[in-house]
Amino acid sequence: MKQFVAERMATVPPSGIRRFFDIAATMKDVISLGVGEPDFTTPDNIRAAGIASIEQGLTRYTSNAGILELRELLAAHLQNLYAVKYDPLKEILVTVGVSEALQVACLATLNPGDEVIIPEPSFVAYAPAVIFAGATPVAVPTYVEQEFAPAMADLEAAITPRTRAILLGYPNNPTGAVLTRELSLQIAAFVEKHDLLVYSDEIYDRLVYGVEHVCFAGLPGMWERTVTLGGFSKAYAMTGWRVGYLCANPEINAACTRIHQYLIMSAPTAGQVAGIEALKNGEAAVKAMVAEYNLRRKYMVSAFNEMGLDCFEPKGAFYTFPSIKSMGMDEEEFCEKLLVEEHVAVVPGGAFGVSGRGHIRACYATSLPQIEQAMERIDRFVNKYRG
Ligand SMILES: Cc1ncc(COP(=O)(O)O)c(C=O)c1O
Repeated sequence: MKQFVAERMATVPPSGIRRFFDIAATMKDVISLGVGEPDFTTPDNIRAAGIASIEQGLTRYTSNAGILELRELLAAHLQNLYAVKYDPLKEILVTVGVSEALQVACLATLNPGDEVIIPEPSFVAYAPAVIFAGATPVAVPTYVEQEFAPAMADLEAAITPRTRAILLGYPNNPTGAVLTRELSLQIAAFVEKHDLLVYSDEIYDRLVYGVEHVCFAGLPGMWERTVTLGGFSKAYAMTGWRVGYLCANPEINAACTRIHQYLIMSAPTAGQVAGIEALKNGEAAVKAMVAEYNLRRKYMVSAFNEMGLDCFEPKGAFYTFPSIKSMGMDEEEFCEKLLVEEHVAVVPGGAFGVSGRGHIRACYATSLPQIEQAMERIDRFVNKYRG
């Protein structure tokens, strides 16, 4: 039989995260710090709105761009938080999470052979989204010494005549790094100088701890050339509802909408109705969850540092990214042994790009008692191998 799988699939490896989940799923008593998803269930009022929509018979497609009320609320939300204006009729598209928004944005704006700069370590779906669009991801490594922020000299060095865009994901998965306004302005100047498009994945915008989140499109000169990607999954604990959004100038938005129309039709209706409730009455729940994440974050960072695994202080998202370089083994071996011997699942940093090697990602979107137990087990493991 002919080989029916397309050649492009050979350029996209399976996610390095999944392999560990699969192993963990076969074991008992595993404490998972692996999955990047809130442990909270969706707040009651939001769940109730989704359920009511189904009971009322709202079970059909919505308009391709999404329920207008949701787009209007999103426009007001971004205006209130960041003073960034998007027209709900022409500049906002409701998507199946940031996952779809990201892929649609790449498909709508990249030509074969284009290059997209991606600061790494980064979310596992970025490079594949670029490759599926026929373009080439160009990784720019970031390091703990620079608090995992891209160095301007490294960004400059990555520019070629084929560079078309930069993909920014801050607050960052997996490092928890947040871009300061000052650095964001420097990146904006770089973007302008090289006439680039920006994809800004701001799915963790609400999960910041004592620092501001800078909405990239709000920086001078950036609105026209930025595709803002956002969603409900993280801040409102709504991963399973599959709703997100994409905001861009009318030309890019129309191109994205055309792809979305043929690929998806419309985002899940119940999810969109739940999203409306989230934006109307979800703020208290967001604040309460962020406060809880912050307690866990502080606990986990100190616990890693106390056991001698140097841990950069993440200012956003819900991940820690400690170094395991002092352990005398690579991160793959560390994660596999930790899982088998102590039943704690964390993710090897190399899954997020070469510059993630020597680190592990531990997610604190799990309860404090679970985290305490996990840290005890990791401490025992570290002591055992350090001798
Ligand atoms: C940085 C980042 N972007 C996007 C996503 C996907 O989000 P969604 O559930 O909206 O598709 C994730 C999920 O882990 C993520 O970490």
